[in-house]
Amino acid sequence: MEIIKCLDYDDLSKIAACIFIDKIKNIEKPILGLATGSTPLGLYKNLVKAYKDKVISFKNAITCNLDEYLGLDEDDEMSYHYYMKENLIDKVDILKDNFHIPDSHLENPKIYDEILDKIGRRSIQLLGVGENGHIAFNEPNSFLSSRTSIVKLTENTIEVNSRFFENETFVPRKAITMGIKDILNADEIILLANGKKKENVIRDFIKTENIDPNFPISFLKLHDNLKILISDMDIEL
Ligand code: GLP
Repeated sequence: MEIIKCLDYDDLSKIAACIFIDKIKNIEKPILGLATGSTPLGLYKNLVKAYKDKVISFKNAITCNLDEYLGLDEDDEMSYHYYMKENLIDKVDILKDNFHIPDSHLENPKIYDEILDKIGRRSIQLLGVGENGHIAFNEPNSFLSSRTSIVKLTENTIEVNSRFFENETFVPRKAITMGIKDILNADEIILLANGKKKENVIRDFIKTENIDPNFPISFLKLHDNLKILISDMDIEL
């Protein structure tokens, strides 16, 4: 595991973008695992810029996203579909059929597993982390062998994510998420964490030697090519 302490959020976004640009340029068919949330926004801005500057093309890239709120329509501004289209997909030359994200109206989560199986191991998997240690929407009490499933969001996640919604009552109570098993199925994992609110979770992750299902980020200790980029937090390395 490598932890990179970045100067600030801009620096984190640029370093993350360099890592992605390198993959996109040098792998014939890059398979990119993508994430949502506020943290990757700077990375996506840099990737769109690199595309506009003709540094990279997404023509051969395949992407698959981690998760989606259950029940939101694709064009709902709060959905992760909308987020991805708005921040990356509609701004670059990725082929629409190569963009994958769990269907928020999916009754059978296994359909996303089939898609993931067809796509195969990701070249790189992007992750953020929740304040309670969740990765994607794998909340505390997750399993290593888990695959795509419908999960109940915890009170903490609902409260934290309510900042994106009009108020807490609008936050969907359930989500569909890629499981831990598939998150780990990547040649490289890069996790981004920015700001004081993520300080405890990152500190605990660095300290822990155990894999703890109640602290889902700890499953990442099982991966041998993990980079964590942090910014704006007081962590001594
Ligand atoms: C949501 C997403 C996670 C993301 C987390 C952190 O809960 N499901 O995939 O990592 O938010 O988001 P932020 O980057 O806004 O802190």
